[in-house]
Amino acid sequence: MNGEPPKLEFRGRFPLVLPGAGRVLRDPEAHWPPEILERSVVEARAAGRRLVLLAAPDAVHEVLQNQDGAFPRARLHDRMLGASYGDNLVRGDRADWRRQRRQLLQPFNMPGADAPEARIALACERVVGEWAGTPNGAAIDVIRDARRLSLDSLWRSFFCDEKAARRADPLVEATALAMDAHETAALTTHLDDLRPLAAVALEREAAGSGSDTSGETAVDLNTMLLFLHAGHDNVASALAWALWLLAEHPDWQARLREEWRARPTAPFDAGAFPVAGAVINETLRLYPPIMHLIREANRDLDVDGETVPGGFTTVLSLYAMHRNRQWWEAPDAFRPERFLGGAPDVRRRLLWAPFGTGPRGCVGSAFARTEMIVALGTVLDRLELVPEPGERMACRVDFVLRPEGRQAVAVRPAPPRASGGGAR
Ligand code: HEM
Repeated sequence: MNGEPPKLEFRGRFPLVLPGAGRVLRDPEAHWPPEILERSVVEARAAGRRLVLLAAPDAVHEVLQNQDGAFPRARLHDRMLGASYGDNLVRGDRADWRRQRRQLLQPFNMPGADAPEARIALACERVVGEWAGTPNGAAIDVIRDARRLSLDSLWRSFFCDEKAARRADPLVEATALAMDAHETAALTTHLDDLRPLAAVALEREAAGSGSDTSGETAVDLNTMLLFLHAGHDNVASALAWALWLLAEHPDWQARLREEWRARPTAPFDAGAFPVAGAVINETLRLYPPIMHLIREANRDLDVDGETVPGGFTTVLSLYAMHRNRQWWEAPDAFRPERFLGGAPDVRRRLLWAPFGTGPRGCVGSAFARTEMIVALGTVLDRLELVPEPGERMACRVDFVLRPEGRQAVAVRPAPPRASGGGAR
């Protein structure tokens, strides 16, 4: 590939007197200085509020673990995400968030349900079949189709048996296309697009919880909206980035294809795909979709031996931590080999946290990983990804870090399997 993959260009200057924190989070390039990629902590004033950006792994983890309750999710976080959904699981630390989290995971375990990977594969094959039918060497809309694929995967995996899934197909497809058409619109528009699907999911959930003897009611509509949104939007961004990075890196593409074709016939185990895992980890290191997590710090915090006095809002910058010059060699380069080899050391694990961690960390990280492995494997088994000349990917932030560059990836038939090789 020509040069490094796209990155954010921070243009802020010290002293940092910033506008309201919401504006800072929506346009981080304009407000934070490039030094956030070299330091562990950067302090600012944002409309009278003390705002502290943290990129030090130990401090970020201490805040996220929130063991003494001194670091609750900030109301600002609610404003950026939760408030738009209405009252729901993400909002602050509402008393019943634990129950809602538990309840959300129930569809995973529906009696008689296929393992998620089988359902994910169905969603992937649909999109890959379409791509295979495009003229040899034609560009695909990788951003639109990553969204279609991830919403369909989530829907099939969580809410439906296959018959019900097929009935809902037109609504799932229409929802993904509507959201794609509103790609740059505000989150509230996306949630309006999702509302009809959330209502159907909720009906199904309510029917399922009829047999629940715990007396707990099913999740509410707003939490279902959050779940449908959080459960596909981040995967869609990460998948589009991964497909583009693989188009730019034919060597990794060939390794991943080979690993997928030689996969064991045993039940799916994400650990059996180290190459795919490394590519996914490196993609999420470079492009963590939720690049900033926001918490209140109600007590002092030790950051690399210095005390930062409590009473501030902290922006835990996964982006700055993942690319920090202090800890990563060639931080802006795509090098999946960082995640291969022996067990990652503890320090490394603390440096990489695209799913957050602690009690409010991502509920869907294992599903997301399965989905991405199956999606990348299914695509590469049939197709070769190539960069479309003259088309670039770029970063776009609307609080979430997203790819921009719909025509940047083209496809042609994959090289055939070596004779006698391959699992199936
Ligand atoms: C690449 C994919 C994904 C990434 C990078 C990601 C990232 C994250 C992060 C960083 C958080 C924590 C936010 C915080 O601490 O303030 C989070 C929360 C959450 N994620 Fe994910 N996520 C992904 C996929 C998924 C999937 C597939 C699902 C559902 C199946 C999901 C459901 C949720 C939910 C419901 C929460 C809120 C948990 C709570 O508030 O207690 N995510 N995600």
